[in-house]
Amino acid sequence: MDLDHNPPVTQALTVLGLESSCDETAAAVVRLHPDGQVQVLSDRIQSQDAAHAPFGGVVPEIAARQHADIIDQIIAQTMQDSQLQFSQLDGVAATTGPGLIGGVLVGMMTGKAISLAANIPFVAVNHLEGHALSPLLAADLPFPYLLLLVSGGHTQLLSVAGLGQYHRYGSTIDDAAGEAFDKTAKIIGLGFPGGPAVEQAAKTGDETRFSLPQPLARRPGCDFSFSGLKSAVQRHWQQLDAPTAQDKSDLAASFQRTASDILCRQTAKAMQLFRQQFGATTLVVAGGVAANQIIRQALQVLADEQGFGFIAPPLRYCTDNGAMIALAGAKHLRQGQTSALNIAARPRWPLDEISASLNPASGAGKKGPKS
Ligand code: KG4
Ligand code: ZN
Repeated sequence: MDLDHNPPVTQALTVLGLESSCDETAAAVVRLHPDGQVQVLSDRIQSQDAAHAPFGGVVPEIAARQHADIIDQIIAQTMQDSQLQFSQLDGVAATTGPGLIGGVLVGMMTGKAISLAANIPFVAVNHLEGHALSPLLAADLPFPYLLLLVSGGHTQLLSVAGLGQYHRYGSTIDDAAGEAFDKTAKIIGLGFPGGPAVEQAAKTGDETRFSLPQPLARRPGCDFSFSGLKSAVQRHWQQLDAPTAQDKSDLAASFQRTASDILCRQTAKAMQLFRQQFGATTLVVAGGVAANQIIRQALQVLADEQGFGFIAPPLRYCTDNGAMIALAGAKHLRQGQTSALNIAARPRWPLDEISASLNPASGAGKKGPKS
């Protein structure tokens, strides 16, 4: 990671975090106390769902324009909520990747401008590192923990052993889990975002009616694949003449059950590896798909079976938010790590690279389109 190294800081740090890598424009002010306690002073999130709904998915160009239109207002409101001036902040952090590049540029450039105008340090934050640390916003959780990150852009299993200490056990080789929910919703004519619509339709469906594939689940390793599942949903849908509301519910329920089984099967394998490596037993789920009650219940059952504790942070911190970016920024600042203002935005930025640069022994890796 391109961070400059300065002496570690011991006082409380108050940081503004900006997030604009997908379809949420978010800003938050977070205070990290010397004992590790985290205080969210203000936290604003503006979703773009309505702008993307007619297209059944996030349109990058529209996303970038919407971020540019409102990010200044979101930041102004966040600062007002926190009753602080920019000059009272110890730093400003912004998502610098991975994500949709137009949106990332909006947040990053705004963060750099605030840094320059207020004469405070800038910290470039990896969006995935924000998610990895997000459970700490709501709970005093000790490292290490196993994180299942399931969102519209990412599906990965990683150990989080401390700041900059991340190891990926597996990630999707094609679609993210949330993307599979969104595409399924589009195929069977439910709205966007698809996850909540599929979950709702599935409530009255028969999850055993359609048999759907679980790609990779029976092979060794913890990687995920969801594109075959989506294609199978499409085939079943095309084979139905004049599909009824019940057909729709049954297909939604069968898809949801299969997606949940895939997530649990790979998570179970990662739990074994994690336990062997760390002798620890905490599973955390984050990302928008963690809102799904069927998936949450299945993960709870899995954790109980394996003797793991299971933590699902409040949804506000599971989905994209500015607080997780502010927290990651504050943790880097505390270690004396800041970013130069010529740092570039990165559409792809695997989390393992941060581990590799901060801990050369851990090695680097890159796989999957969303890494
Ligand atoms: O974390 P998030 O807000 O944004 C990123 O993608 O980073 O996640 C959004 C994703 C969407 O794909 C949405 O369909 C999915 O999370 N999602 C759900 C549910 N609520 C949101 N998926 C399944 N069940 C849900 N209840
Ligand atoms: Zn995200």
